[in-house]
Amino acid sequence: MRIAVLTGGGDCPGLNGAIKWVTKTALDPQLEEKRSVKFEVIGIMNGWQGLVEVDPDDPESRARHLKHLDEEVVRTWDRFGGTNLGTSRTNPFNPKNDRSEKLIENIKKLGIDAIVAIGGEDTLGVAHKLYRQGIKTVGIPKTIDNDLSATDYSLGFDTAVSIITEEIDRLRTTAGSHGRIFVVETMGRHAGWLALHGGESSGAYMILIPEHPFDINRVCELLQEREGREIRYSIIVISEGVKMVDMKEFYKDEKVDDFGHRSLGGIAMYVADEIEKKTGLESRYVILSHLQRGGTPSAHDRLMARRFGISAVDMIINEDFGRMVSLTHGNITSVPLKEVIDKLKLVDVDKYYDVERYNGRRTIL
Ligand code: F6P
Repeated sequence: MRIAVLTGGGDCPGLNGAIKWVTKTALDPQLEEKRSVKFEVIGIMNGWQGLVEVDPDDPESRARHLKHLDEEVVRTWDRFGGTNLGTSRTNPFNPKNDRSEKLIENIKKLGIDAIVAIGGEDTLGVAHKLYRQGIKTVGIPKTIDNDLSATDYSLGFDTAVSIITEEIDRLRTTAGSHGRIFVVETMGRHAGWLALHGGESSGAYMILIPEHPFDINRVCELLQEREGREIRYSIIVISEGVKMVDMKEFYKDEKVDDFGHRSLGGIAMYVADEIEKKTGLESRYVILSHLQRGGTPSAHDRLMARRFGISAVDMIINEDFGRMVSLTHGNITSVPLKEVIDKLKLVDVDKYYDVERYNGRRTIL
């Protein structure tokens, strides 16, 4: 049975580990003895793009778009961030340039029996559409935003939260020395998980998330409440997708990707300026941007990559196609892809957010 593995969407630490464990589990000689099926694993370069662009009849094209995977090739991969298979935001079902027929034809010509798609809502959305057209797909959740429904965890989130925490630790010394306000912008597009967890773990004074539009006057009021106390600086963590009361999100430019997304970013600068204008407090901003997706995976991401990778192969053996590996209440299970792509998992404001203090709640139970 020929399994193809691919990574799509934004990269993150943990992807290489998932590829490694799909490969190792599929090719494990001990397990092979007990199975009635023998596997072969190929990596697809650059997500769905590789499968759309490959010419199965041309050996040079196959060499460019496909990568043979075995235990030797993937042995050290789990230690490294990014994805050694490359990634793209290619949408073969883009109505403006539908290449899904070519995709399905290539899958058949290459003799691919099952596809493991490692990605977020967009990549898994394609996996779901393919499944509906008779292709055997399974999904592994990844996105530093941790906003995929039907799973408590998506690869990359833990490493990103650790990076946010480390960077804020660094900012504290310079913020304190100068007595400044620092507005720190995290990624997160539609969901505030990165800002909330990064802000809580670093002890930020305020956390602003997309799920609760904020009022700049309230932000200034909260900063001024600290005046006169022995506090030299304040850290405000703000999600890139945050909305201000009566204002829309901030976009970097007009570009739209294959899935219809625009690039967010830049709200931190606006907020820092407004604070300085309205309160006179000296303010600076930092946009953490792609640093949050860089570097080596945390121990947690390596562990989850291993578990998700192993489970994806279990799912293929059990013929649980059209489904995604999921962490639910601490257990690894699987859920229909349909449940994952219909809606995002946003921060439940009533449960986790204090709308008065603009921070995580101080009551948990
Ligand atoms: O979806 C993951 C994510 O990191 C978002 O948080 C962010 O808005 C987006 O990707 C950035 O995408 P790109 O790498 O294409 O700039």
